[in-house]
This record gives sequence, C-alpha cells and structure tokens, in this order.
Amino acid sequence: MTTPLRFGLFGTGRIGQVHAASIASSPRASLQWVCDPFVDGANATAAKYGGRATAEPADLFAAEDIDALIIASSTPTHVELIDQALDAGIPVLCEKPIDLDITRVDALRAKADAATVPVVLGFNRRFDPHFAELQRRVASGEIGALEQLAIVSRDPAEPPAAYVAVSGGIFRDMTIHDFDMARFFLPNIVSVTARGANQFSPAIAAAGDFDAVVVTLEAEGGELVTITNSRHSAFGYDQRFEAFGSEGMLQVGNIGPSVIRSYSTSLVEAQGAYHSFFLERYADAYRFELEAFIDTVAGEPSRSPGFEDGRAALILADAAELSARTGRTVDVDLRA
Ligand SMILES: NC(=O)c1ccc[n+]([C@@H]2O[C@H](COP(=O)([O-])OP(=O)(O)OC[C@H]3O[C@@H](n4cnc5c(N)ncnc54)[C@H](O)[C@@H]3O)[C@@H](O)[C@H]2O)c1
Repeated sequence: MTTPLRFGLFGTGRIGQVHAASIASSPRASLQWVCDPFVDGANATAAKYGGRATAEPADLFAAEDIDALIIASSTPTHVELIDQALDAGIPVLCEKPIDLDITRVDALRAKADAATVPVVLGFNRRFDPHFAELQRRVASGEIGALEQLAIVSRDPAEPPAAYVAVSGGIFRDMTIHDFDMARFFLPNIVSVTARGANQFSPAIAAAGDFDAVVVTLEAEGGELVTITNSRHSAFGYDQRFEAFGSEGMLQVGNIGPSVIRSYSTSLVEAQGAYHSFFLERYADAYRFELEAFIDTVAGEPSRSPGFEDGRAALILADAAELSARTGRTVDVDLRA
C-alpha cells in the first residue's frame, strides 16, 4: 500500500468535522495539521482524529509535512486560502461556495485554471452513490436523449437567523448544490428563471431572503431543469432527483437509515423517518468525495468538480437571485 496522503485541514466546524472523520477513516489519508482560530475546536479535532492543532493558517503553509489541504472554514476565507495553497503548490479541496462575490472568484480564476496542482470543489452530491449511478446510467443512454431533470431539495428546518444573515441568500447557500447537480448532467446552462417566496419564516423575511424558491434552467440543447427548494419540510430532509428522457425515466427517492418496512393495523409499508440532515444523508458522499480527491492528487484523471464548476454554480446563483428580484429570465454564458 502507498504512503497515506498527509492532510492539513482548515476549519473544524460542522463540515470540518466530516472531513476530519473521512480522513481518519481512510487508509489512504492521515490528518497531519488542523487549523482553526477557534483553537478549542482545532485541539478537540486533532485529539479525536490526529494531527497537530494550530490557530494560525500560516503554520500549515510553512509546514513541510502536508501533501494536500482541505478548506472547510467559513466562506469568506476560501479565496485567500486557495490562493495561498496555489502559491505553496499544494493540492486543495475547497468547500462550496468559493465565495459569495463573483468578482473575487474571477480575480482568482486565471491562477486557479492555470494551476499545476488540483483545485477541487466540495460539491459532495456528485459522489452520492445513488446520484452517481443515476448519472452514469443517463450518460450510458439508458433513457435515450435526456430532456428534463426535476430536483427537489428541502431542508428539515430553517437555519438560525445568524446563519441566514451571512449565508449570501438561499440561492448561493442552498440552491448552489442543486445548480451543480444540474450541471453534473447538463454542464452548459444558458438561462435561469427563478421565483422566490416568503411562506413561513418571519426571520428569513426580515433578513430579506426567501424561504422557498423554484428555479427553471434551460440547457444549451433545450433540456429543461426544475429545482424546488424549501427551508423547511415537516417530514424531514427531502432529497429527490428525477431524469426524464426519450426512452424512459430514472428516479432517486428519499433514502432512510433503514430499509425495513413495518405493517400494522393502521399503516402498511411504513418506514422510519428520513435522515435528519446532510451530515447523515450524504455521509457516504463525503467519504467518496475524499477518495476521488486522493485519486486526483495521485495523478488519475479527475472525477471531481473543479474551480470552474464552483464559479459556474455561483454565476447561476447570482442569475437566479436577479431573476427572482426582477421577474425576468436571465441569460448566462458559462463558457465566457
Ligand atoms: N458541502 C457541504 O455539504 C457543506 C455543508 C456545510 C457547510 N459547507 C461549507 O463549508 C464551510 C464551513 O461551513 P460550516 O457549516 O462547517 O461552518 P462552521 O461555522 O460550523 O465552521 C467554520 C469554522 O471555520 C473556522 N474558521 C474561520 N476562519 C478560519 C481560518 N482562516 N482558518 C481556519 N478556520 C477558520 C471557524 O472558527 C469555524 O470553526 C462553508 O463555506 C459552508 O458553505 C458545505
């Protein structure tokens, strides 16, 4: 077996914990450094999953025992940390979104695109085994010519007001995953039409954001995509996907933690509640995302979304925001 890839990790919050656990569980990876200005978090993560803890990002760029970096820190730190990783010549997996401001993304674009080390984006849903199989089967021609995608993504409950305030809005924070999933199948989206509503959350309305949105995307071949999002769902985390083609249809429904069904006098085919949220529903996806990154660093053709995919998803989010605010369809040119 080859030597494990030595990782440095920025950020030990919700998603940083997931990456630390994935690294620790992979025989092909080891956690070497953990950085968080919230040093208690860095210490606790290093104690649990290995590595040295620091509050100082510069320590990771100065370290000589790091082969790859994961940026799982707060969104405003991503551009600068990617930039420094590129200067240091270290492969990097950065969480979505690259940034909330496309001008900051564009300022880094030429450097990221010209990089000789991999820069990959944390669009984990591409690595969900069910969605990945569905994509392979569509690409193999099983349902003929792809004509429509229907994506439903509803969170179990609205996030705290403090999170909403810095999230960049529902399109850049939540729908961004669905934009990337649409582009997993149909990379060249040419127009975006979006509607937003305030249906249930006074806090989200007070922040000037929507709590429910529906987006229609048109791809270059005339294929159509609908994305339905809500910040709440009474029955739990709702993650469904449908591809419709000239010869048939493929669907992924909600996946619970158990396949056991219960039959009684009042219910038949009853199952337990769905996974509570993304950490549980996409647990496998986060692990496969890491393995794909390790393959890319090892020199295999990349299966991971890259900087351009992160940029494209943000352009679609900006277009959706503009469309929802103006009532217009917004044309986009992702190839420019
Ligand atoms: N792919 C996914 O499914 C997914 C899920 C959740 C969050 N995210 C993304 O991951 C990022 C982090 O989200 P979160 O929910 O874990 O946030 P969080 O607030 O729980 O954690 C962020 C951590 O980053 C730390 N931090 C801030 N500046 C830092 C720096 N310069 N270096 C190192 N650490 C720093 C903070 O102290 C905090 O502990 C966000 O960009 C978010 O959009 C992705």
